[in-house]
Amino acid sequence: MTTFSNSWDNSIRAESYSSLEFPNTYFLAYRDLPEIIKKHCNGSIALDFGCGAGRSSRFLKNLGYEVVGIDIAQDMLAKAREFDPSGDYHHVSNGNYDLFSDESFDQIQSIFTFDNIPEMATRICILSSLVKKLKQNGKIIMLDSTPDIYFHEWSSFSTSDFPENKLASDGEIVKIVMTDVPDNRPVEDILWTHQHYLDLFESCGLTLEETYKPLGKPDEGIQWKSELEIAPWVIYVLKKK
Ligand SMILES: C[S@@+](CC[C@H](N)C(=O)[O-])C[C@H]1O[C@@H](n2cnc3c(N)ncnc32)[C@H](O)[C@@H]1O
Repeated sequence: MTTFSNSWDNSIRAESYSSLEFPNTYFLAYRDLPEIIKKHCNGSIALDFGCGAGRSSRFLKNLGYEVVGIDIAQDMLAKAREFDPSGDYHHVSNGNYDLFSDESFDQIQSIFTFDNIPEMATRICILSSLVKKLKQNGKIIMLDSTPDIYFHEWSSFSTSDFPENKLASDGEIVKIVMTDVPDNRPVEDILWTHQHYLDLFESCGLTLEETYKPLGKPDEGIQWKSELEIAPWVIYVLKKK
């Protein structure tokens, strides 16, 4: 069995990723979030889990949130601090978020993080530890890749070199190339099905409030490939049971 390693935990990848804003398929991930957040979330204190080079944290700050970013990769955090020297970014290990008081966040955001996390037990440990830090009426916004992203061509990604992705089942490694950044070495992710996410949420005491799967629109000025018909991303809105 191939072992999974976090593709983001190196300086070349961090440098390459940090130049990304919201091009092409990424636009689709972030396009609807302001409306979704406005509809479902209250309060202004947020934790950005898997903040990477800080793009998602800066996005939330621009919506008026006070944001703390956490990540497992030091190289990504270094980039986040470079872009936002006054920002609050911390290195964490899996499931250990004790630097925060319980029930202290109105919102916990996780964008493209859980599709990098292998093993159901690890995922439950991480998500249930995060849930403890959420206020009783707080919300989790979790945005990840759909399995479809690994089987098609996209404005920001290619998977044509990896036909074996189609054979992957829940929890197995899949590969994808990012076409918007200089570093086009394949990124390894883990394929997780919708059913897996439902089981994960149940195990962590979460109720699924709403699921969104944004599609591209023909008049957005982007050369969409599969995005008009197939959703590359899924956005889960979650609350405590
Ligand atoms: C694809 S990047 C997304 C970064 C950011 N959320 C954004 O939208 O630009 C995924 C990030 O999740 C982080 N990550 C992966 N596994 C993690 C874990 N177990 N705990 C915390 N961060 C993790 C990676 O190091 C990486 O920085």
